[in-house]
Amino acid sequence: MTSSWMLLSLVFLLATSSARAGGFKHIHLYMHETFTGPNATLFSVVPPLHRGDNARFGMVGVLDDELRDGPGPRNSSLVGRFQSLFAFAGLVTPPGMQTATSLVFTAGQNAGSTLVMVGSIVSSEGPYETALVGGTGAFRMARGYCVLKAVWSPTPESTVYEVNLLLKLGGNLLAKMDAWKRTYAL
Ligand SMILES: *[C@@H]1O[C@H](CO)[C@@H](O)[C@H](O)[C@H]1NC(C)=O
Ligand SMILES: *[C@@H]1O[C@H](CO)[C@@H](O)[C@H](O)[C@H]1NC(C)=O
Repeated sequence: MTSSWMLLSLVFLLATSSARAGGFKHIHLYMHETFTGPNATLFSVVPPLHRGDNARFGMVGVLDDELRDGPGPRNSSLVGRFQSLFAFAGLVTPPGMQTATSLVFTAGQNAGSTLVMVGSIVSSEGPYETALVGGTGAFRMARGYCVLKAVWSPTPESTVYEVNLLLKLGGNLLAKMDAWKRTYAL
């Protein structure tokens, strides 16, 4: 491999990465949640403390909702899971729900990658916004935000939320350089 070819590749790499850096990547998905029954995806684990104005203060739960490419439970494809820990932490400003979430992609072009989301949720129906603070794989060093809002209830036990992910893929360059280093054993 000639060094001038390698230098050219690096220049190309930098040019294509910075061209994308200004814009947001938009990923549009639907979160399918079943809150009760045999197929429940959401569970409360620690009961509330019944303190302050918020009857649910102190309640802690987990969820493992489906991430699908459409709003219909039967005519959309599963692309991943929305796995979350949540706690009702608003003593005087309920619900003040604190969440820590991993969006785990299992199918499609982002399979094997994850996005990490943290933040406070002020209303369960939405729309609400939470911060995307990083990721792995295709989303290394990604940053952005997620807007989530309830769109419909396919059954009395379930709710479908529209999920809009707006991302800056800061790690694009890092991921490409890693692949490049592996290819040429640098
Ligand atoms: C639970 O899921 C199974 C498999 O998808 C389905 O056959 C069944 O009807 C579901 N039960 C309820 C109560 O939705
Ligand atoms: C998908 O299913 C939903 C109901 O679950 C229905 O409203 C919608 O029209 C269906 N879409 C297509 C393209 O069949």
